Amino acid sequence: PKQVTTASLLKMKQQGERISMLTAYDFTFASLLDEAGVDMLLVGDSLGMVIQGNDTTIPVTLRQMIYHGQCVVRGTKRAMVVVDLPFPHGQLGVRKTLQVAARVMKKTGCAAIKLEGGAEQADTISALVSAGIPVIAHVGLRPQSVHALGGYRVQRDAERIEQDAVAAQQAGAFCVLMECVPSEVAKSITDKLRVPTIGIGAGAGCDGQVLVTHDMLGLTVSHVPKFVRQTGQLADHVRLAVGTYNQSVRDGTFPSEQESFR
Ligand code: KIV
Ligand code: NA
Repeated sequence: PKQVTTASLLKMKQQGERISMLTAYDFTFASLLDEAGVDMLLVGDSLGMVIQGNDTTIPVTLRQMIYHGQCVVRGTKRAMVVVDLPFPHGQLGVRKTLQVAARVMKKTGCAAIKLEGGAEQADTISALVSAGIPVIAHVGLRPQSVHALGGYRVQRDAERIEQDAVAAQQAGAFCVLMECVPSEVAKSITDKLRVPTIGIGAGAGCDGQVLVTHDMLGLTVSHVPKFVRQTGQLADHVRLAVGTYNQSVRDGTFPSEQESFR
């Protein structure tokens, strides 16, 4: 299948085709999601929560992002793989952020990187784009700033969010991701921008949607936010399957003859 590119995503927006994005952190999930036709795979620093069990994304390291990025790229044929710059590597100014972004692209083989921020990141975004690194700007709720923002809450400063989105587009970002933004705000920004918007907790007016895969699949064992649509309950399947395995080991019915060598 033809690979998803920045050009094909722009065309999708122009033709009113919605973009489907999900997070992926490993080879197996990347293979499954890619095969199922997800357009974009995000190696999100949400892996700090989903994979590592931390309360925030802040402890995630650059090496860890590169490692997970490599695993995901190996499993992906069609989708565009995007890797997050972890805290504080996306916020170190033009020179350092460019170095880190280039390293992430080089080591993982991803097609784009995502960093948090808009207007204040304009110079950085433009330097990355000049260097040949496609950039997604993450505006609205920026989880790496959770302590400064006073928690994970809906961002209601419509003017600021729009300024961030517009500045990111002007700086050359090929896509703007909006997190926890009122639907009307996200819709109006989406209508103003030439580049596609991807929403999470930002209503139906965006050009695309992203969710944390484990939340969407019903695999997450902790709190799941209100904006998540759970289209599966895989945790129940895991519990059931593991229960069956335990039982068959304990009652001696596993392994059978066919599952053994003679
Ligand atoms: O890290 C992540 O998974 C993200 C999405 C929630 C947008 O940034
Ligand atoms: Na993230």
